[in-house]
Amino acid sequence: MGTVQLTIDGYKIEADESKTVLEAALDNGIYIPHLCHHENLHPNGGCRLCVVKQDGVDGVITSCSTKVKEGMVIHTKDEQAEAIRKLSCDFMFKTHPTECTGCPKYGKCQLASISQYVGDTGRDLRYCQIRVTADESNPLMLHEMHRCILCGRCVRACNEMRGVGALKFEKVDGRMRVVINGDSLEEAGCRFCGACVEVCPTGSIRDKVGVFDDNLPKERALVPCREACPAHVNVP
Ligand code: FES
Repeated sequence: MGTVQLTIDGYKIEADESKTVLEAALDNGIYIPHLCHHENLHPNGGCRLCVVKQDGVDGVITSCSTKVKEGMVIHTKDEQAEAIRKLSCDFMFKTHPTECTGCPKYGKCQLASISQYVGDTGRDLRYCQIRVTADESNPLMLHEMHRCILCGRCVRACNEMRGVGALKFEKVDGRMRVVINGDSLEEAGCRFCGACVEVCPTGSIRDKVGVFDDNLPKERALVPCREACPAHVNVP
């Protein structure tokens, strides 16, 4: 693979031609907001936070799913792109609870960080709470899907990184949701590897006892499968 030269926000940079615009920007210290993107997952271009303007192209492009090209000129601080980011944030907060301080993910929530970066969205869309009961039935994982913003990272992680497919998108009462692909995680073939917990940017899927938290002292980690499970061979 060769390299290409492109310009982002006036900076001339060089990037491997296999990279996306988002990856090239981040590699060179240029921040573009992104949420559904994860470095170990295929892009799905769903959250629309990473939109940027490319010279010569009408409208905006999603930087997470656009490969770099020789000579392309990108603007991350374009007016139209910023308006779309604010609108995307608004859509996420339309259903996501806004009382952040009561959330167990407070201080570590990527949605909260990005909304601060994007700035005051005005919250123009009326809050419309999703009524989903928290699933506390599993001893290791907690699903509070009313916090889910449908970025799809958990679904992709389970499919792409683990090849399991224990989670899926499904329309419930006319709304798209992430649901368990069966009556329980066990029945869905979940190996409790914690990939979904690790990639969830909000507090929707969390571990109950810190078992998937690498920062914990090892003696506290129950690690029933982190070291023994073959699913962990590919843990990044
Ligand atoms: Fe590109 Fe979500 S990060 S669309």
